[in-house]
Amino acid sequence: MYKLIEHPLITHKLTQMRNVETGTKDFRQNLDEVAGLMAYEITRDLPLKPVHITTPVAPCDTYELAKPIILVPILRAGLGMVNGICNLIPTLKVAHIGLYRDEETLQPHTYFEKYPKNIADATVIIVDPMLATGGSAIAAIDMVKKQGATDIRLANIVAAPEGVKAVESAHPDVMIYLAALDDHLNEHGYIVPGLGDCGDRIFGTK
Ligand code: PRP
Ligand code: URA
Repeated sequence: MYKLIEHPLITHKLTQMRNVETGTKDFRQNLDEVAGLMAYEITRDLPLKPVHITTPVAPCDTYELAKPIILVPILRAGLGMVNGICNLIPTLKVAHIGLYRDEETLQPHTYFEKYPKNIADATVIIVDPMLATGGSAIAAIDMVKKQGATDIRLANIVAAPEGVKAVESAHPDVMIYLAALDDHLNEHGYIVPGLGDCGDRIFGTK
């Protein structure tokens, strides 16, 4: 299942990101801000637990987050979403999954993984700006499941319908959050209209 997060600020900032005239600095800043805005919706149904505290005025029965949160950026481009979400949830822990997509076969290849200890008890949020064929996202979800994760969400900025379908069929238990659902993939596996190669645009590598 997927949820399209619609908000005028997200649409405006994403338009800046899509624009070929936008340079590295502004691309990065808009990505950071879109990720932060999406975090509000991605975390809307997080479980709470009751706690008893004392305010400066009186005892108070209230609530706090019931589970730890682990953010999992898929390297490289997922790194561009970390700050924006961390600003909203400063206590979260960050895992890293290194994947690159072979330019010919479009198959994902793993080159790095590192997780905090309590992944099985946590809400896991995998972030990657682009969901194209879905191969990278499916591999990342497989990897966190192998570590014991059960409560998993996936957040992408721009997706192709092909990628959404692939993730939904491989991992029907994972909710996908999107800022935009684009038209299709081209013959090189790029999202159309998309925003180009996100990793290159974040890090200025092309
Ligand atoms: C891009 C993107 C996703 C993947 C999406 O990464 O950030 O991880 O492609 O494509 P898929 O849905 O077809 O798997 P890329 O492999 O270019 O690596 P990079 O972030 O290091 O540039
Ligand atoms: N990866 C990207 O960075 N962009 C696309 O359009 C597809 C995959």
